[in-house]
Amino acid sequence: MAETPSNTKKLYIKTYGCQMNVYDSERMAEALGGSGYTEVSSPEEADMILLNTCHIREKAAEKVYSELGRYKDLKLANPDLKIGVAGCVAQAEGEEIMRRQPMVDLVVGPQSYHRLPELEAKAGHGQKALDTDFPEEDKFEKLKARPKAKRAPAAFLTVQEGCDKFCAFCVVPYTRGAEVSRPVERVLAEARDLVERGVREITLLGQNVNAYHGAAKGGTWGLAQLIRELAKVDGLERIRFTTSHPNDMEDDLIAAHGDCGKLMPYLHLPVQSGSDKILKAMNRKHTAEEYLRLIERIRAARPDIAMSGDFIVGFPGETDQDFEDTMSLVREVKYASAFSFKYSPRPGTPAAEKETKMIEPDVASERLYRLQELITAQQHAFQDAMVGREVSVLFERKGRMPGQMVGKSEYLHAVHITDDVDVGEIARVRITESGPNSLGGVLLR
Ligand code: 5AD
Ligand code: SF4
Repeated sequence: MAETPSNTKKLYIKTYGCQMNVYDSERMAEALGGSGYTEVSSPEEADMILLNTCHIREKAAEKVYSELGRYKDLKLANPDLKIGVAGCVAQAEGEEIMRRQPMVDLVVGPQSYHRLPELEAKAGHGQKALDTDFPEEDKFEKLKARPKAKRAPAAFLTVQEGCDKFCAFCVVPYTRGAEVSRPVERVLAEARDLVERGVREITLLGQNVNAYHGAAKGGTWGLAQLIRELAKVDGLERIRFTTSHPNDMEDDLIAAHGDCGKLMPYLHLPVQSGSDKILKAMNRKHTAEEYLRLIERIRAARPDIAMSGDFIVGFPGETDQDFEDTMSLVREVKYASAFSFKYSPRPGTPAAEKETKMIEPDVASERLYRLQELITAQQHAFQDAMVGREVSVLFERKGRMPGQMVGKSEYLHAVHITDDVDVGEIARVRITESGPNSLGGVLLR
């Protein structure tokens, strides 16, 4: 058979899970660009399919296997097709994936993406390639530099990976490994490069991003110092960061929310539960009261800040009263948005190894329903309160309606208008309506 000409091979990447995976997928696509791949939007036309997976809850991991099952016919029709699994399922299950799905050619864990071009070259036609090591080097540094193509105005930038917190339910410390921060200069260089290519808003990513401690010339910098330095980059207008642990919310980071104009007033600060007994069993190392006092301090620095969080219901041992404590905490905080999940035991985590009985599924579902109802009501209240107010919006793309433009407010609301603005423009908008998941407004010039 004729060789596929270089630069015409087609890559389909499907991304599951968190924003760190979104960032990793972009970087993997760029790295495979060096091996002649361009990205396509459907698996049917691909020469290589790469699933960037999530292992955080059982459902997320199972989705990967059902998706792989769907590719069987494609592989039978095209034996040249390469199928790869990346991300946290790859890290957690390794060779097991190839045993369960023999048509998988390549398995690569999140710390080995810089080896992807090599692995891709090796894999296929019965040859398997697997790498789930935790090497010392910075995988992002080793990945090919981002080409100087124009970018969408909002971008992610991973500054920290891994987690040393070991919450009892969580697989992250095992799949992403120990906390590692990228050096300050590398982060700044990447940020400057993004800005040159049209980016105006950067979200700094890390599993535990506020534990950032990057090597810098004068020693080690925390996240607040990094943000203040990034704020000096001309053309970069907005900075966000996610996800944070309450115990790493240092004073200087709280202060930055008050005095750094480019740091947006939105904070994702998961608490997981409002019951001290459950927080202890989860190994969260903080109480509900400490979390509430922390939010008071953050709001003292930035009164209008939009708070977001994560919750787990049905953690083993959670009584009705424990759950009511979670509901009370939510009522007290008044979230702008929050994510909530039913506890899912993850193999290898301390909570899954314990004998404590699982909560009845019906009880857990009912609690999740009630919590989500409360959170949705708070989200709507927060949105409705914006009507009549002025916000600043970074416009990111055209909307579905003719003439419509869509962007994000400083509080991370989706905002749409039908006035004439360019993608990448930041403009003042008066909010006129609050819909189920977005706000409508008119441009103020
Ligand atoms: N079961 C349910 N939810 C979980 N999360 C993490 N691990 C689990 C689990 N085993 C949730 C937490 C975390 C978010 C990313 O996912 O709320 O903050
Ligand atoms: Fe998982 Fe977050 Fe806890 Fe780390 S801090 S173990 S990533 S839930």
